[in-house]
Amino acid sequence: MSADIQNVPSVEVNGARIPLLGLGTWDLRGRVCARVVEQALRLGYRHIDTAEMYDNEREVGEGLRASGVKRNDVFITTKIWPSHFAPLELERTARECLGRLRLGEVDLLLLHWPNPQIPLAETLGALCKVKRDGLARHIGVSNFTVPLMDEALRLTSEPLVCNQFECHPFLDQSKLIAACRQHGMAVVAYSPIAKGRVRDDETLSRIGAEHKKTAAQVCLRFLVQQNIVVIPRTSKVERLSENAAIFDFALSEPEMASIAALARRDGRLVNSAFSAQQNWD
Ligand SMILES: NC(=O)c1ccc[n+]([C@@H]2O[C@H](COP(=O)([O-])OP(=O)(O)OC[C@H]3O[C@@H](n4cnc5c(N)ncnc54)[C@H](OP(=O)(O)O)[C@@H]3O)[C@@H](O)[C@H]2O)c1
Repeated sequence: MSADIQNVPSVEVNGARIPLLGLGTWDLRGRVCARVVEQALRLGYRHIDTAEMYDNEREVGEGLRASGVKRNDVFITTKIWPSHFAPLELERTARECLGRLRLGEVDLLLLHWPNPQIPLAETLGALCKVKRDGLARHIGVSNFTVPLMDEALRLTSEPLVCNQFECHPFLDQSKLIAACRQHGMAVVAYSPIAKGRVRDDETLSRIGAEHKKTAAQVCLRFLVQQNIVVIPRTSKVERLSENAAIFDFALSEPEMASIAALARRDGRLVNSAFSAQQNWD
């Protein structure tokens, strides 16, 4: 086992301890998914990110059980797809997620994308009830803008512990990050290595060479050094260790500034799959 992956630090918000490193599982399916999850946990990952939409909760649960790691030592997140945001449907869907994972509760349950067709107050009411009923230890949101986050915080009766959104050096998310900090919410960065595109970046590679690290490791370090949770995905077992070896070096302030300067206008990689599906803007 790599020493780098032991004792991954956590971010603590509103009673939740979220490990700063997790494994993303979008697009991992079947045996590959179960195997990567199992290996990640054996290596020392303690946080797995899935969603009902990824169609892999069953395999995530299988990987968890095969790893032999105790349930309470792993932080499991899943997400409810917006077409299931009507209150009764949300509750039913949460139970179905748990059934596929074969878990009594998840650590974190998120609203996957906003759904303007269903009043947020109703959806949040149902999400809070699901938490109170013991199906989720913590709740939060994903892909919420600053105004939507403000609205959600006004409407919720339970703490919202995070906003999960696209976050990597090629995209300036400073306003959303500042809003999360102001509200005591964790930032969970998805697509944290820009879907693998960081590999070809000259600045990240040059800084990496100075630290004997890869561009992907420098990118992940840039985020965790700001207390941002990262959930890189890989289908390759050998990359699990690489993506986790980010807690044994530090970037200087000038290095952090050079990486922050990589943000560009067209840096966004993920558009709302849900809006596109519904034919909205
Ligand atoms: N809430 C949301 O709406 C939302 C949206 C998108 C993603 N997410 C979550 O965030 C997770 C991560 O985001 P993502 O999957 O979009 O992108 P990502 O983690 O930024 O990048 C994944 C890609 O990078 C490659 N890769 C992994 N490690 C690498 C390394 N060390 N060097 C070079 N390439 C590497 C992977 O290929 P190989 O498989 O070949 O290694 C894969 O193609 C998802 O899996 C999902 O759990 C959430």
